[in-house]
Amino acid sequence: MKIFIAGGAGFIGSHLAHRILKESDCEHVTIYDNFTSGKDWHIADIVDNPKVTVVRSDIKDIDQLSKIQKVIFASSGGTVYGIPQEIPIKEDHPTDPSVHMVLPAFYVN
Ligand SMILES: NC(=O)c1ccc[n+]([C@@H]2O[C@H](COP(=O)([O-])OP(=O)(O)OC[C@H]3O[C@@H](n4cnc5c(N)ncnc54)[C@H](O)[C@@H]3O)[C@@H](O)[C@H]2O)c1
Repeated sequence: MKIFIAGGAGFIGSHLAHRILKESDCEHVTIYDNFTSGKDWHIADIVDNPKVTVVRSDIKDIDQLSKIQKVIFASSGGTVYGIPQEIPIKEDHPTDPSVHMVLPAFYVN
């Protein structure tokens, strides 16, 4: 299992990275983050793990993203914002938790 975590140096993303690394079938975790609010100390204990790669870049950087073989994007926003009125979903997007879109996903080759 090879995992890509956008926002992987943030609160949720870094906890997710630590959790996934404990899985026996975890082959590799890419932490992709522009560190606007992400913190080095969130991932300090795993950056030297041979299964971990940290990419300091913006998710809008298509050139950098295209170097990633496959992306599975999972957002917690779907459970809060419902069916989005616009993509990307911004923090001030109206919420509609009555409509659950649990796992928006896309793949990039
Ligand atoms: N923390 C919670 O309890 C909670 C609950 C529900 C929903 N959420 C949502 O989940 C998401 C993550 O929450 P969090 O608490 O981990 O926030 P966070 O700010 O700690 O993590 C977000 C990470 O994304 C990175 N980032 C932001 N823009 C980026 C970009 N353009 N390119 C690359 N990296 C970028 C930041 O540097 C940061 O590391 C947020 O959208 C938040 O609203 C959080």
